[in-house]
Amino acid sequence: MVQLRGSLASAILLAMAITVAASPRSYHGYRLVNAVPRSAEDAAELRALATWTGVDMWSRRAAPGATVTFMVAPGAAQRRVLQRLEELGVPYSLGEHDVQSLVEREARDQTRSRALLRDDAGSSVRFDTYMRHGEIEQYLAELAAKYPKLVTLHSVGKSYEGRNMTAIRVSLDGGNAPRAILVDAGIHAREWIAPATALYLINRLVEHADEHQALLQGLDWYILPVVNPDGYEYTHTKVRTDITHHHYLVQTLFLTKYSRTNQIKSSRPNYFITTNKILVPRAKISSVLNLVIWTKRSSGCRFWRKNRGAKRETWLKWLWDLLCEPGADLNRNFGFHWMQSGASSYPCAETFAGKKAFSEVESQNLRDFVLNANKDKRFKMYLTLHSYGPMILYPWGYDYRVEPAPDAKQLADIGNEANAAMVKAGSEPFEVENSAELYPAAGGSDDWAKGEADIAKSYTIELHGGGSQGFDLPASRILTSVQQTFEGLKVFASHAREL
Ligand SMILES: *[C@@H]1O[C@H](CO)[C@@H](O)[C@H](O)[C@H]1NC(C)=O
Repeated sequence: MVQLRGSLASAILLAMAITVAASPRSYHGYRLVNAVPRSAEDAAELRALATWTGVDMWSRRAAPGATVTFMVAPGAAQRRVLQRLEELGVPYSLGEHDVQSLVEREARDQTRSRALLRDDAGSSVRFDTYMRHGEIEQYLAELAAKYPKLVTLHSVGKSYEGRNMTAIRVSLDGGNAPRAILVDAGIHAREWIAPATALYLINRLVEHADEHQALLQGLDWYILPVVNPDGYEYTHTKVRTDITHHHYLVQTLFLTKYSRTNQIKSSRPNYFITTNKILVPRAKISSVLNLVIWTKRSSGCRFWRKNRGAKRETWLKWLWDLLCEPGADLNRNFGFHWMQSGASSYPCAETFAGKKAFSEVESQNLRDFVLNANKDKRFKMYLTLHSYGPMILYPWGYDYRVEPAPDAKQLADIGNEANAAMVKAGSEPFEVENSAELYPAAGGSDDWAKGEADIAKSYTIELHGGGSQGFDLPASRILTSVQQTFEGLKVFASHAREL
């Protein structure tokens, strides 16, 4: 019996240790590591690192000579990663040593800029701060009410947690233009500049339609500004709410141990009282107390990438949730060469592709919306907005060394022309590249759009990086970024009208 109790106690301690190391609730102790691959082999090794637990690759690009930034969890993960880089002999440097301080700096910046003026008087859209999902939905509803001839809202479906996924159609003739273009954003939760860019596009097309007739003649726009609303809101959430969940686990374990051994005693200073009124000796539970306190201190998940689905439904759910939070990478979940490369079948990985192609409700919703809206094959172009680059990527992305798309040259030419327009507007240059050359990753929405949904021209646009490390472009720079990008979107549209 004593032995049994001992092993139960170790099991609890083990669970605590794993939680502290693997859960991304707060970024205290998470650090950034910048490595520079010298060869294609180095680059491949670094991409392999990205599938390790506790490692999150922040750079899209892993190619010789380019800096590849990883965020690495504290403890064993950091030791293993640095050891691996030493073994490989890849030059590296240590960046920010406490990612949480980046998150806090960004939050202060966001609060300050909320006080600034709005872009359009009388409109609820704003580009001095990152709008929340509810504000975005409200803005779309306002546009539909104010511009009924121009705007129609389409319910794409509900997210896993029940949020509305609303697409807006902007059309001069009730959705009957001969061609259409689809733009989406925010498939990855943390890439905040992407929804902002989609909103600027919507703002220009609708509230400044007079100036942009050329973009609307003969072309219907379908824009879904937030594909992953649960993840997006999660990255905006400052204080976690599932403290009780962990409390519950702790208590369950104690209940098993202490109720059976009849050690419950009345109020004594050396005993810990759980909310189920169970007393346990303080000396035996210091690490448990740490867990409870630590969870309460945690502060959101600014760099969450995945959706919030893929929840596990077995009785083991609570234990599994301690290892990592559920979620799939929606941009690995689309059904075109699913899981062929650059994706993970491990649910804790940042690039977890889901249980099967289209296992996630958000990717299902987007798929069904596109297939339905494109029945008459009017959709000529698909632009999916991500960050950070700047880069313009075209299919195929699902693997290295596959036949290039038959229209690869035309895809590149249009991309280069869009880049030139953005550079002219003051942007740093966008690299225009085949997706897989940069970073092969199967299950992306761009490949699926071209390969399965009959949308001939499909692009991933990796928008401007900024802030300390890329995803955290300061709110004060939103307007400049979206204005520059808009010049590129115009070029894409001009081609969509002629395809
Ligand atoms: C979600 O969309 C439906 C219409 O599709 C609407 O009636 C409802 O109010 C929306 N919910 C929120 C929270 O915006």
